Amino acid sequence: MKFEKVLEGRRSIRQYKVAPVDHDVLKKLIKAASLAPSWKNSQCPRWYVITNDQMLQELKENALPPANQAKVEKAPCLIVACFEEKLSGIGNEPGVYANEAGEGWSYFDLGLAVENLCLEAYRQGLGTLIMGIRNEDVIRSVLKIPPAQKIVAVIAAGYPDADPKMPPRRKIKETTVFFD
Ligand SMILES: Cc1cc2nc3c(=O)[nH]c(=O)nc-3n(C[C@H](O)[C@H](O)[C@H](O)COP(=O)(O)O)c2cc1C
Repeated sequence: MKFEKVLEGRRSIRQYKVAPVDHDVLKKLIKAASLAPSWKNSQCPRWYVITNDQMLQELKENALPPANQAKVEKAPCLIVACFEEKLSGIGNEPGVYANEAGEGWSYFDLGLAVENLCLEAYRQGLGTLIMGIRNEDVIRSVLKIPPAQKIVAVIAAGYPDADPKMPPRRKIKETTVFFD
């Protein structure tokens, strides 16, 4: 698939087919995520890939608000995107952030990795939905995520049962200043 097609064709998918996703395909998504750049190659992202029916149900029912629950009701996979704290953004002095963005660099690194994951998913014929509205406490307790890992997003993945149009994007002149 051409790069332009991958960039333009990926959409947030809010309706899924009842169809499982092969474990090897899911591994390809994580591999793609691992190829993203990160602060000093610190590779802070951590992933929890859930395809177990009981756990899927528990997370969908208890960790997502009703609006998101409905959107991913049939999704056969949820991926919880986390990062290991105090790895990214550290300067030359051990344990000390290099600048004011601090742990924000971890969110930055994780975002880069999540986009890789979503683009690879699209290339594999899958749809994804990144969800920022989720219950951190429920996710931590169900998946037994250690306290040193920050839980950021839940990403649904599965075969799309909808073909939404691209929501409009801001014009370049609205977002960018060029100094020629
Ligand atoms: C950090 C983040 C959080 C999001 N949270 C939600 C969410 O909770 N529910 C939802 O339906 N979409 C969510 N989205 C999807 C956005 O609404 C979507 O990316 C945007 O409208 C652009 O559409 P597109 O992804 O199809 O290009 C989220 C996206 C991002 C990047």
